Amino acid sequence: MEGARPDTFLRGSRIRLRPLELDDLPRYAELFSDPEVNLSYGGLGVPDSLLKLQRRYDSGEFDATDRKLHFVVEAGGEIIGQVSLKNDENLPSRAVTFGIMIGAGYLGQGYGTKASVLLLNYAFGILGYHKVNLDLFEYNVRAQTMYEKLGFVHEGRRRENHWSRGRFWDDILMGITAEEWWAKHGPPRQPETRGERG
Ligand SMILES: CC(C)(COP(=O)(O)OP(=O)(O)OC[C@H]1O[C@@H](n2cnc3c(N)ncnc32)[C@H](O)[C@@H]1OP(=O)(O)O)[C@@H](O)C(=O)NCCC(=O)NCCS
Repeated sequence: MEGARPDTFLRGSRIRLRPLELDDLPRYAELFSDPEVNLSYGGLGVPDSLLKLQRRYDSGEFDATDRKLHFVVEAGGEIIGQVSLKNDENLPSRAVTFGIMIGAGYLGQGYGTKASVLLLNYAFGILGYHKVNLDLFEYNVRAQTMYEKLGFVHEGRRRENHWSRGRFWDDILMGITAEEWWAKHGPPRQPETRGERG
């Protein structure tokens, strides 16, 4: 059994979420240096250098605030991905944008679903958000399938808004309300933040 580290934020079966630490940066850079992953998230396919990542870290980009949360996803003691919540709306709207990225070697093993459920339970149950939104590129079938399975609803398309792989693609807009989330995932419950790693 590996002991609980004090920096754990949320814990689930096989994974935990925790803040990004300075000494995580080399691993973080390595994990997200895959051009396909970078492209699927809206990057240019050019990985961040360690120096650039360090500058982003120093500027407070990964700090938790009441407007944004950013966590690494850890499994088996390794960082395997990241998740985020970003609130750019006016506060009374209680709407937030969700983001997730799982590293290339860890796709299709259920980690994306587990990390999403952990953070969305927290977003709705503890932070009291009413709505979680996201958008994705239409060619990102894996993400679309995962979001549909989680209960996200298709809300629209921004046509030919993204250039990639030699053509324009639509952005797909998806969202889920607190009521829809609880109807599918059960009633609000206190998240597990302490105890043994799953
Ligand atoms: C989208 C993403 C988070 C999904 O994470 P993941 O860990 O691979 O997903 P899971 O293993 O939990 O799979 C969830 C569902 O997606 C579907 N899925 C998995 N791989 C798939 C594939 N290659 N094609 C289509 N659907 C797929 C499956 O239906 C799966 O559910 P099931 O196992 O019950 O059948 C991950 O692919 C990722 O980080 N991609 C790069 C960044 C990105 O696209 N982020 C989202 C931008 S909006």
